Amino acid sequence: MKRSIGVKEILFPNPMCVVGAYDEAGKANMAAIAWAGIVASVPPSVGISVRPSRYTHVCIKRRGAFTISVPSLHYLKEADYFGLASGRDADKLAVTGLTAVRGAFVDAPYIEEFPYVLECAVTHSIEIGSHTLFVGEVKDARADAELFDEQGHVDWAAGQIVCYDMSANSYYSVGENVGKAFSVGAGFLQKGGA
Ligand SMILES: Cc1cc2nc3c(=O)[nH]c(=O)nc-3n(C[C@H](O)[C@H](O)[C@H](O)COP(=O)(O)O)c2cc1C
Repeated sequence: MKRSIGVKEILFPNPMCVVGAYDEAGKANMAAIAWAGIVASVPPSVGISVRPSRYTHVCIKRRGAFTISVPSLHYLKEADYFGLASGRDADKLAVTGLTAVRGAFVDAPYIEEFPYVLECAVTHSIEIGSHTLFVGEVKDARADAELFDEQGHVDWAAGQIVCYDMSANSYYSVGENVGKAFSVGAGFLQKGGA
């Protein structure tokens, strides 16, 4: 038997994401945006859902670009603060002391101290009720060099990203690697599962 729950209790966990954009005056602003995800592989694209009331919304509309910086556990408090204050009222980067770096490929800033960064150029803006879905073509994706293993793969756990449970409004750290994708289920293929 199953009981009814909300969508946000199922499509979880989400990595905690911080979206960066410049305002009209050129001030770098950051906001916590949990509603984010990959939406296409060709061209590589991500989507973020932003309420029109957010300062970030105005900034992205004007500049047509945004970044996603994914924090490590070490910067959880700073990332949470980016979701508590508005860039209309505060210079959030000055308050946290984090470093905003101009994107090399798009007109938007990212956070140097966070281990993962995507630079995105807006290709679509879709109004969906409460939120605007900004789709951004990924112009660059980078991770801190020390996170790569000898084979050139990113050691995801080493980045210590944080997941956000929007149902309980809580953050979770990410645990151990529990198996290889496209592989741990392969035993069923041998059992006649095609
Ligand atoms: C964990 C977390 C996740 C959030 N996710 C979103 C989101 O997906 N979309 C959104 O519009 N606001 C989201 N917010 C709220 C904004 O981050 C918040 O309103 C912020 O103050 C906006 O900053 P800005 O006005 O400088 O853009 C989230 C806040 C937190 C703490």
